[in-house]
Amino acid sequence: MVDNATLRGMAQSGCDVTTIGLVDLYMGAPYFLDRIAESGLTAVSANVRDEITGDLLLKPYVIIKRGGVKFGITGVLNPDLKIKVDKEVESHGVTVSDPVEALREYVPEIRKQVDFVVVLSHSGLTRSKDLASEIEGIDIMVVGNHNAHSAQPYEVGTTLMMQPGYRGQAMCDFRLSFDADGTYKSYSGKAVVLDNKVPADAAMALMLKEHKLMIEAASKRRAAAQAEEKRLMREARNAASAEPYKEDCIGVNESCKRCHQDQYDQWQTTAHASAFETLEKSLQSTNPECLNCHTTGQRELPGDGSVEVPANLRGVQCESCHGIGTEHARDRSYGDISVATCIGCHDSENSPDFNFPQYLVKVTH
Ligand code: HEC
Ligand code: HEC
Ligand code: HEC
Ligand code: HEC
Repeated sequence: MVDNATLRGMAQSGCDVTTIGLVDLYMGAPYFLDRIAESGLTAVSANVRDEITGDLLLKPYVIIKRGGVKFGITGVLNPDLKIKVDKEVESHGVTVSDPVEALREYVPEIRKQVDFVVVLSHSGLTRSKDLASEIEGIDIMVVGNHNAHSAQPYEVGTTLMMQPGYRGQAMCDFRLSFDADGTYKSYSGKAVVLDNKVPADAAMALMLKEHKLMIEAASKRRAAAQAEEKRLMREARNAASAEPYKEDCIGVNESCKRCHQDQYDQWQTTAHASAFETLEKSLQSTNPECLNCHTTGQRELPGDGSVEVPANLRGVQCESCHGIGTEHARDRSYGDISVATCIGCHDSENSPDFNFPQYLVKVTH
């Protein structure tokens, strides 16, 4: 997962290069690129591309020099993985092309410039092994997206496989030895499980603690915002269902139409104007359970059929949204519209697709 603390931790541990993993695009590609830029780490990928431009999202490879030896490092992501994205993010913003093609293109190009070609393969174990045997010229492969670490480095054909497991549960102390003149001799190494017996690095432990506190505070803020939103919806719903204007409504034809011909003409084109006809067509025009929403000012209509809705209040008229006409003032205080105006009728049962901004544009005159 890409966040500042993880990347800072990697940089502080002496990590030079990383590649894109399954959850790194959780907040979308731009967020990922910003975090990488801030971290000072280098990220490479030979097969993750910008969804829109089709260009590689990162450099395909980098060359680094350690102890006189040159390493060329590239990375690939398994295109079959379903990249995880937060529900608030529209899209991860990338496409993932065939890693075999990508490596066939870049590995020979890298080989010409370095002593060792290293592939960071976020592809799981089986697929990484396939890549190692299928593509010539990979000296070292780091296997990502596989839960278990290997106890030692191992070989697949001529490729040396290093498999560090995941979530930092083990540290793979895998070493390459070279002669004084820089000629490669051999490899050795073992995995060190990072359990309680391994003492924590003080600076790292502090950073981790700060990060956990930050996550906790962010989760609390999120929960509070959600609770507040729910509360407002509930309040609005209660306010709407307690609408007092019942029999006091004047009716559009007796009043509003006279002075607001334009709004009237527009309203005539909306489904509200024919809401009573809808009931007639369904043979439900005397059903009090339907009338309270398909007529005007009848939200409190008793369900026993003891009250008849007057003919002049049929359909969802002006006063359903603007309030009773007897309260009409001309100081812009009359008839303010909010989500509360609608959701008494547009409830989840009768209007499951209701979305305030989308619906609002259809009724605004
Ligand atoms: C006698 C004329 C008249 C009648 C009848 C009338 N209005 Fe108005 N209404 C006005 C005037 C004038 C304004 C101020 C318009 C402006 O200058 O923007 C207004 C403003 C409004 C506004 C804008 C909010 C405000 O206060 O400025 C709404 C909403 C409104 N009327 C709805 C209605 C509805 C609903 C009815 C029927 C119940 C109705 N009107 C009946 C004359 C009338
Ligand atoms: C008194 C109840 C009531 C209120 C208040 C109400 N509506 Fe409606 N609305 C209805 C009914 C009933 C229908 C369906 C009418 C029909 O087709 O017979 C409807 C239909 C609609 C439609 C058409 C949906 C479609 O796709 O056909 C839109 C858009 C809409 N309402 C928006 C709103 C908005 C926005 C508000 C608040 C500003 C609102 N309504 C307030 C009862 C109401
Ligand atoms: C709580 C308010 C409410 C009640 C009660 C209610 N309706 Fe509706 N009805 C609506 C709203 C709001 C819509 C519009 C939904 C949308 O388009 O999003 C609607 C839409 C409809 C539609 C679809 C209109 C179309 O053209 O697609 C029919 C039919 C309908 N209602 C019939 C009924 C019947 C019959 C009853 C009584 C058994 C009833 N309604 C009770 C609010 C209500
Ligand atoms: C479904 C809800 C709804 C119904 C029904 C409705 N209006 Fe409106 N009306 C609105 C909305 C939304 C606005 C925009 C006001 C705002 O910004 O809050 C508005 C604005 C107005 C205004 C202010 C001037 C303007 O055009 O912006 C007038 C006047 C008005 N309506 C009159 C009427 C009349 C007359 C009727 C009946 C023929 C009617 N409305 C029916 C929702 C409704």
